[in-house]
Amino acid sequence: MRAANAIGIPFTLSTVGLCGIDEVATAAHAPFWFQLYMLRDRGVANALLDRAWAAGCRTLMFTIDLPMPGPRHRDIRNGLAVPGRRAKLLRTRQLLARPGWIWDVAMRGGPLRLGSLGEHVPAARDLDAFRQWVDQQFDPTVTWADIVWLRQRWRGTLLLKGILDADDARASIDAGADGIVVSNHGGRQLDGAASTASKLPAIVNAVGASTQVLVDGGIRSGIDVFRALALGVRGVLIGRPWVYALAAGGEPGVRALLSCWQRELATTMALTGVTRIDAIGSQQLDPI
Ligand SMILES: Cc1cc2nc3c(=O)[nH]c(=O)nc-3n(C[C@H](O)[C@H](O)[C@H](O)COP(=O)(O)O)c2cc1C
Repeated sequence: MRAANAIGIPFTLSTVGLCGIDEVATAAHAPFWFQLYMLRDRGVANALLDRAWAAGCRTLMFTIDLPMPGPRHRDIRNGLAVPGRRAKLLRTRQLLARPGWIWDVAMRGGPLRLGSLGEHVPAARDLDAFRQWVDQQFDPTVTWADIVWLRQRWRGTLLLKGILDADDARASIDAGADGIVVSNHGGRQLDGAASTASKLPAIVNAVGASTQVLVDGGIRSGIDVFRALALGVRGVLIGRPWVYALAAGGEPGVRALLSCWQRELATTMALTGVTRIDAIGSQQLDPI
């Protein structure tokens, strides 16, 4: 978050983030965005919304593509997504193989708990109990009526994340969203989900240039940022790149990633003869 603040871009805190809303608000130099998963217990959802608003958050990103966790085969193999003793042993073996992580994160970092949900999830530190809670609480019954409810409930900017379809994009705006994030959850929900780049042209066309359309999934360089802008989005979001940079180099690692992408974007603009971001269009680069 500090690296994002330094460069003047928003940071989004997840519902299931390890840092809580108040901790992030205290450390932030700029308003942060909050990402919400719809919970069956609307009391908890309401409490999160109130807390985010009170902490100065004015942009809510509501994720619609995780009505239930998708199959994540690697997480079954590594013991993250299955309950029981064998999985616990697997995780312990992984921990013991990484003394650097134990010292740097488990002992000096932390506390390792679900920041915003901690008080609502019984035994939130226990992975099996948390997974059980997610299975019970993530609400697969959400409809457009819930989006309309959320629109009335949230006074700030509302973005719907997880749109891959032009009709859904239009319906999002009709339900009152201020913008959409074209996303396939980085392919983590459904292996084989359509790429966001392939869906962007029809979606941008459906909602018009005045709608805020963002995209994520597979953005890996400043050239990719340029390609996304050329496809008509206002901006991009990233998931794994900043996590990898953070794991490899901490805050300086994320700063290095972001300034590298800035340079790559500037170079791509120079080499395609564009001097303003809003002049980037599909004519500059074959985006696919
Ligand atoms: C470790 C990890 C955790 C994630 N957690 C969330 C989350 O809590 N809420 C959410 O809406 N998306 C979550 N995502 C999906 C990202 O927001 C984003 O859609 C995706 O990572 C973008 O693709 P990229 O990783 O290729 O940039 C997560 C992704 C990763 C890799």
